[in-house]
Amino acid sequence: METELIKINSIDDEALKRAGQCIKDGGLVAFPTETVYGLGGDGLNEVAAKNIYLAKGRPSDNPLILHINDQKMLSRIVSEVTPMAKKIMTAFCPGPITIILPKSDIIPKAVTGGLDTIAVRMPDNDIARALIKYADTPIAAPSANISGRPSPTTAQAVYKDLQSRIDMVLDGGACQFGVESTIVDCTEDVPIILRPGAITKEMLEEIFPVVKIDKAIVGANVVPKAPGMKYKHYAPKVDMILIEGDNKKMSSSIKEILHKYENEGKKVGLLVSDEVANELNHQNTFSYGSQENLAQIASEIYEGLRYFDDKDVDIILAQGTTDKGIGLAIMNRLHKASGFNSIFI
Ligand code: TXA
Ligand code: MG
Repeated sequence: METELIKINSIDDEALKRAGQCIKDGGLVAFPTETVYGLGGDGLNEVAAKNIYLAKGRPSDNPLILHINDQKMLSRIVSEVTPMAKKIMTAFCPGPITIILPKSDIIPKAVTGGLDTIAVRMPDNDIARALIKYADTPIAAPSANISGRPSPTTAQAVYKDLQSRIDMVLDGGACQFGVESTIVDCTEDVPIILRPGAITKEMLEEIFPVVKIDKAIVGANVVPKAPGMKYKHYAPKVDMILIEGDNKKMSSSIKEILHKYENEGKKVGLLVSDEVANELNHQNTFSYGSQENLAQIASEIYEGLRYFDDKDVDIILAQGTTDKGIGLAIMNRLHKASGFNSIFI
C-alpha cells in the first residue's frame, strides 16, 4: 500500500475531507493532536480497529482511545458519564486528558481488548477535530508508532514507522505537548491517574480533594491498570540508563559514568539538559532543553529517544528530571524507555 504524506494548511483542505472519507470507508489515517500523532480508524468498525493493531504490530489486549469532538458523540459510546468525568470535562476538555468510563454496547470488542470500560478523549487540535467531524464517527487512535517505539511528534516520524502500512499521514507540524494524554480512571470513588501527562496530578488536585496514582507509574514490578503501560515502551534501539537524583550533581556524575563506559570501549550517547550538554561537550549528545523548562523537555523527549536510532552508539545515558508537575510524565516515559534501569546519584 502506498502511504500519502500530505501537508494540511487549513481545516477546509480537500485532503482533510478525503481523509475523513477514508476513515468512513474503513481506512487508516495518521493525524496530529496536541499530544502526539495518532493512528486513526473508525472506532465503531471492528475491522478498522483490527487493522490498527496490525499496522502497529500492537498486542490485541492493549485497548484503544476513542477521539470525539462533542458531547453527543460521548453519550453514544459510554453507558454513563460519571460526575467525576463531567467535572474533568468542564475543567480540561478539549485538552490532553483521557477519561475511562463504562462503555456502551456499540463499541466493538477489538477496541477495548475485552474490557467493559472505554477510554475517551477530546483532542485540542483543529485538524484532529475537523477529521473527526468529516469522518462523522469516534476515531480510535493509538499513538502512530510501531508498537514499543517512541511516540511520534512529527509527521516525518510517523512516516518513518508506518510508511506503506496505512493510507494517509496528515502533516500538521510538530505537536504542542509531546507526551501522550494523562489517563484518568473515572469509574472508582476517586480519580486514579493511570498514565501521567500534561494535565498534572497537581492540576487535578485543584478540582478533587484526593487524586490517586496507579502504582505502576512509579514502580517496576506492578501490574498496571492501563494494559498498555505494562509493555517496555517508548524505547530507543539501544540500551538506555537513566541517571536520577540531585540536579546539581548531574554533570559530574554523568561525566564519571560516561568515562567508565568509554574505558570499556563503548560508544555513548547522551540525552541530557542544555546545562549538562554545555558542561560535558560530548560528541554524541541530544540536548532536550533547559532543566528549568519541563514543558520544553516534554515536547523534545521523544525526538531525543529517536535521535540515536541512526547514530553509532552502544548505550545511551539519560538525565532524569524532577517528578513534580509534567516531570512525572517525563520520568515515567524515561523509566519505561530504560526498562527501569536507573543509577541514583
Ligand atoms: O495522547 C494520547 O492519548 C495519544 C493521542 C494519539 O491521542 N494516544 C495514545 O494512545 O497515547 P495509545 O494507544 O498509545 O495509549 C492508550 C493507553 C494504553 O496504555 C491503553 O492501555 C490505555 O490507554 N487504555 C485504553 N483503554 C483503556 C481502558 N478501558 N482502561 C484502562 N486503560 C486503557
Ligand atoms: Mg502509544
